Amino acid sequence: MIAAFVLPHVANHALGLASLDVMTSVSFAWLPWMLNPVGLAILYGAFAVHIALAVFALWRRRTLKMPVWEAAQLALGLLVPLILVQHVMGTRGATLFGASGVAYPGVVLGLWLDGWPALQQAAFLVVVWAHLCIGFHYWLRLRPWYARARVALTIAAILLPVLGLLGFARAGWEAARKAAEDPAWGGEELRGMRPEDPAAEAARMRTTLGLLGGYLGILALVLAARGLRHAGKRRAASVKITYPSGRTVVAPAGLSILEISRFGGVPHTSVCGGRARCTTCRIRVADGAENLPPANHLETEALRRVNAEPNVRLACQTRPSGACTVFPLIPPRSPSALGAVEKPDSFGRERQVAVLFIDLRGSTTLAEGKLPFDVVFYLNQFFAEMSDAIDEAGGHYSNFTGDGLMALFGLESNVKAGVRDALAAALAMLRRLDHLNQRLENELRQPLKMGIGIHSGVAIVGMMGPPKTPILTALGDTINTCARLESLTKSYGVDLVVSEAAARAGGLDLSGFARHEAEAKGKAETVPMYAIPWPGNEAVLAQLSQAQAGKGLAA
Ligand code: FES
Repeated sequence: MIAAFVLPHVANHALGLASLDVMTSVSFAWLPWMLNPVGLAILYGAFAVHIALAVFALWRRRTLKMPVWEAAQLALGLLVPLILVQHVMGTRGATLFGASGVAYPGVVLGLWLDGWPALQQAAFLVVVWAHLCIGFHYWLRLRPWYARARVALTIAAILLPVLGLLGFARAGWEAARKAAEDPAWGGEELRGMRPEDPAAEAARMRTTLGLLGGYLGILALVLAARGLRHAGKRRAASVKITYPSGRTVVAPAGLSILEISRFGGVPHTSVCGGRARCTTCRIRVADGAENLPPANHLETEALRRVNAEPNVRLACQTRPSGACTVFPLIPPRSPSALGAVEKPDSFGRERQVAVLFIDLRGSTTLAEGKLPFDVVFYLNQFFAEMSDAIDEAGGHYSNFTGDGLMALFGLESNVKAGVRDALAAALAMLRRLDHLNQRLENELRQPLKMGIGIHSGVAIVGMMGPPKTPILTALGDTINTCARLESLTKSYGVDLVVSEAAARAGGLDLSGFARHEAEAKGKAETVPMYAIPWPGNEAVLAQLSQAQAGKGLAA
């Protein structure tokens, strides 16, 4: 609701760049929707709830150690009432004390002529806007579409307030000039801005100061209560948290595990700032689960969304009463931890994907009689060609396995397109390998050969790996089966194996190729698949993959 008021307000200010008249006439179109008794009740109610929540957040936080953005969000939120009270009491609130009220030009003129209120108004806009933008950013950045809209939203977030401020200044200057030229107009516009009765005006001033003092008093009380609580906690029981590195933090009981991490200076991921929205603070509880309270409603819901194991908790919601050992699950320096949701799967989720495995045959024979430098050169040539083929087909390089690599397809589209893209990549790889063999004909004892496996199904996709170098990769039965299928290219003497599941998901008719039931390690049932030799089937495979992929067939 607050955003619904602030957005058109700022945009309306920007219209001042055209003229005061344009600004005023547009305001007539939307202000009545907001500033009627119902709209005002909702708006002021929203402000009151928002402010109360900010004050409560100040009380609820057991430590003020927090990331800069959280501190900025909290500080700006607490600053808003100080300016809001003066703004409201200088405009609409004045009518409660007998002022008849003024229209847009009167407000602009009044603020502009008084000088200081105009600066307050500008500061108000900046503070509210920044608070709003931080809030929206940290709320929406978990949405898959946000990464795509980020540039446009950033431009709008900067441009709109700048234009709003310029428009306000331009309109203020125009109103002041008009009032200087036509004092009667100025007098008329300003009439009604303040109560005519000096006693009423004094009451308005007292009320404004009273509200400001009351708010500051509440803040002082909350801070004092926090101090008392802190002093009490120092004498009260403490809890000990042990982290994977063996490090321990002893902190007063009552703090959440996230707060304890911050208290002890232990880096701990928290994208949403402890609001139980992002689940990036989640921990696996290795020991001391009996010292943790049951999950609250918010935590239960958030953990259900990510299908968390029973021993996983949200650090921001869990307040231990005794010692426990916890393993934070999202590395603090990973892109996920920094909130860089570059890919929708950064946080890990189960989804349908198409997987492609390749393996270079005979890499040990390749090394025989060659200098290490040569071997590395051949391998790098090979992998450069393969990764280019993956890129061209719209795939995502995911893993390097020494002699081979794994790629995921359909991450930005769907599994059907993913399978077609994977097939297009496989064809491009085989063609590129032919060309590479021609190039290296005089250097290699025998041509390079490889096997390719394509499969599709559900896998856990997410950013994984060491904190400094995580990669977007996938885990699960689908991945293991694909690796197994790739290894079967040797047994069947073919270059490419495509599972029946992938063919079905991609809508590919592979009935012209030999169908086999492959044994897969650790699986009771066999995996139906098609064994596809190369060359000889280039045209038919190209046709199949091109049917929908339409890319990635670089020769
Ligand atoms: S910090 Fe986001 S859920 Fe805990």
